[in-house]
Formats: sequence, C-alpha cells, structure tokens
Amino acid sequence: MLLAQISDLHVKRPGALAYQRVDTAARLAQTVARLNALVPRPDAVIITGDLVDQGSADEYRHLKSLLAALGIPYWLLIGNHDTREALREVFPERDELRTGGPFVHYAVDVGPLRLVALDSLQPGQSAGMLCAARLAWLEQQLDTARGRPVIVALHHPPFDSGVDTLDAIRLDPQATAALETLVARHPNVERVMCGHVHRSMFVRFGGTVASAVPSPAHQVTLDLAPGAPSSFTLEPPAFALHRYDPQGGLVTHHVYVDESDGPYPFREPLQAPVMEPSGGLSGNPSGNVGA
Ligand SMILES: [Fe+2]
Repeated sequence: MLLAQISDLHVKRPGALAYQRVDTAARLAQTVARLNALVPRPDAVIITGDLVDQGSADEYRHLKSLLAALGIPYWLLIGNHDTREALREVFPERDELRTGGPFVHYAVDVGPLRLVALDSLQPGQSAGMLCAARLAWLEQQLDTARGRPVIVALHHPPFDSGVDTLDAIRLDPQATAALETLVARHPNVERVMCGHVHRSMFVRFGGTVASAVPSPAHQVTLDLAPGAPSSFTLEPPAFALHRYDPQGGLVTHHVYVDESDGPYPFREPLQAPVMEPSGGLSGNPSGNVGA
C-alpha cells in the first residue's frame, strides 16, 4: 500500500506567481506528472492543506484543472490559506468535504488504512486550532477505528520546529495537548501527518510519530537562529511516499519532484562483472552491493 502526501500547493489564479517569484501551478503540474510516473503507482494521494494561496473560487478552479491530470485518487485537506466555502463550491462532487458540518473533516478508508482528516483552520489566522467540537469528533473516529491502522492528518503541526516564525503559527498548544492525549490512547495511530511548515520533519508524538513534508513549490528557509526572519527558498521541491505493510508498519520515503541522473549500478571500473564458466559473476568478491 503506497500513500503519497503532497502539501502546500499554494495554487494561484492562472498566470499569477506566488510572491512574484514562484510558479506554483507549474510546480504542481510537474508533481502530478511525477506521481503518475511512479512505479508502482501510489494507491492514493493526500494533500495536507494550503491547496490554494488566497482561498478564492478562481484558485480552486485552477487547482481542480491541474489535479484532473492526476491518475490517482486524492483526498483534500484544508489549511490556513484555504476557505471552506470556496473549496466546497468548486468541488461539489466531493461529499466528504461537506459531511463535517461547519468543518472540512472526514474519515475514509484508504486501502487498509483509516484516514482521519482534520480541519485545523481558524479563518483569518495563520495558526491552527482544534476546538472542543473537532476534538470530540476526532475521539469518536478514533474509538470507531480501534484495532485498525489509522493515519491522522491535519495541516498544522502539533510540534515546534525550531524555526521561530513557524512555531508562532503552529497548532494551538492547548489543542496540541488534547490531540496528544487522544493519540496516546489509541496506539493503532500509525502517524500524525502534517503540512504547513514546507519542510521535512519528524518527531515523537503521543506514542507515535508526527511528520511534515516539503512543498512541491517553495520551502521555508531552514534558519534555527532565534528571531530569524520569515523567508522562503527554492530548495528542490519534494513530497513524501508512505509505504504501509501490516508487518513493517509505515515507512516514509522522501521523493524529489525533479528527476535526477541515474540510476547507475554500484560498480567500480576495475570490478566490471565477468561471467564465469560456472555461470556465476566474479569481480566483486566481497559480495557488497554498494549501499
Ligand atoms: Fe503553506
């Protein structure tokens, strides 16, 4: 079972650049092509928020046209750059986006996994929140899914990164404590998956692992100096590919959107393999395959 996770697409109206510099639509189109070309292909894609940049219906229509090329089922989560109303307006066929009352949260089966998608949006604010109603819904979902492998996904990370400007807009600390208590009571939670920080991160959380992924577009600058200003970089775009099997659990691979040179065989020039009369190979007496 392969579950790809992309996040923080920040799609704008056609022709518009993010921060006058980043062609987020082009980056998403490249990411869609990369996902489609993966062998084996992922079974599903979750998109952990900041789907668009300003939350307008025009942007969601642009997003939808770009995702139409994705040959893999996908699930949409909401982030601080999103608006619930416009998202629902442009994706009327997505029932799961409107079953949560005022919130865009839902739970679905993704292969053997139960995906519990949370809504951590506080309209008009960059920081995230899980109010009592959302936490109660989450508890109900976790109780229902006992004994099954569960992914809890939300936009805002419930942890500090060390990047001050990110930590100022993370998930509310009280909501974090409540979330951690709930997760700790459900050891079948394989992972808490987040976006928002535009970087790859992993941390212990509630007896499981919480993680965040880079963006297919721009990344937040890695500057751990106290008080470092907010900025972004054009580090290589990337996403996560989570592989689940019941014995090994969930393993996360970091995948770059851009293709690299290679693959090349692990072989030194003087160790060119030679077919021996016995039918075996010589030239690599250690048997070491290079990694
Ligand atoms: Fe973002």
